[in-house]
Amino acid sequence: MTSFLKNDRFLRALLRQPVDQTPVWMMRQAGRYLPEYRATRAKAGDFMTLCKTPELACEVTLQPLDRYPLDAAILFSDILTIPDAMGLGLYFSEGEGPIFSHPLRNHQAIEALGIPDPHQDLQYVINAVSLIHRELAGRVPLIGFSGSPWTLATYMVEGGSTKTFSKIKGLLFDQPHSLHLLLDKLAQAVTLYLNAQIVAGAQAVMIFDTWGGVLTTRDYQLFSLQYMQQIVAGLQREQAGQKVPVILFTKGGNDWLEHIAATGCDAVGLDWQLPIGEARRRIGQKVALQGNMDPCVLYASPQRIREEVAEILASYGHGSGHVFNLGHGIHPQVDPEHVGAFIHAVHEFSPMYHGS
Ligand code: CP3
Repeated sequence: MTSFLKNDRFLRALLRQPVDQTPVWMMRQAGRYLPEYRATRAKAGDFMTLCKTPELACEVTLQPLDRYPLDAAILFSDILTIPDAMGLGLYFSEGEGPIFSHPLRNHQAIEALGIPDPHQDLQYVINAVSLIHRELAGRVPLIGFSGSPWTLATYMVEGGSTKTFSKIKGLLFDQPHSLHLLLDKLAQAVTLYLNAQIVAGAQAVMIFDTWGGVLTTRDYQLFSLQYMQQIVAGLQREQAGQKVPVILFTKGGNDWLEHIAATGCDAVGLDWQLPIGEARRRIGQKVALQGNMDPCVLYASPQRIREEVAEILASYGHGSGHVFNLGHGIHPQVDPEHVGAFIHAVHEFSPMYHGS
């Protein structure tokens, strides 16, 4: 409910409505760079317990907001909750990242997959959304999220993180029908999941297509974008009389911005490779843009961080439609004071690009 929000500049910028300053949040803003996150994480024992305990997920969601004047909160969870709910057995091993005990190894395994009911196996996420929404009490909007079908499929078929994408690409080239069956099931699952998050209180939703950029132009269209478009078409875009904006983020997707903008999404997330002004010239008439500072800038001195922020704001230029963010998640080694300098710089330098 925008009327009830004390700070709605994030939603307004996504809808390209006038704002007083450029809103800012960070991907992975609740995470290991914060000592208070590490303390809660130690209390929980492991990462999935943190995700599966709504009170703890709520606590860590709010931590970065208590430290910094951020313009949005993002649900604390993970994109791999859907494959976990489909029975693949997710766990995180120290230093290795996510692992599935039952990766998808053949067509029969894909055929046997059910589509999770968000109110059964994913109810813990929906409960976290309701609780966070309530605890935020209108301070800032809450972002819900999911992985894209293609990105989820890479983890489900590879069994974890990969550098080569050998198994998922083997499936793509040799058994495209099996992969399409999997992607279609995932698109249905993501649609139900995001709609349940919206009903529970997510005021915007973001789809993370972390691995779309490893595909060719043809295969991106066929195996990733098509399914994100299917999701966008199935989302509930209004809740309690307020528009619920949808953000699509394909890392490495700069060649395909026009196609991403044509899906019907409200905003496109950008990695750091393209000047944001160029992205605006290409698609800024259609959608809002979210991004796009290189996360490594946060290793530099506060003075250098301020210069980079000023340059990105100038590159986007005058007017609404820009949500400031990093081009990917913040790294765990970043100094929290540098984050403060970054967020402060956005609010200090951006008002001159708004108003008449
Ligand atoms: O942005 C946020 O603050 C919301 C929370 C969030 C997390 N993961 C928390 C998390 C979100 C939106 C994600 C998305 C996610 N998870 C993606 C897509 C986003 C992207 O980065 O492009 C992917 C690919 C994953 C899968 C995943 N989960 C990986 C590869 C890892 C890292 C494993 C590691 O040890 O570094 C995770 C774990 C994870 N998800 C952490 C957090 C804070 C770290 C867990 C910890 O050890 O405490």
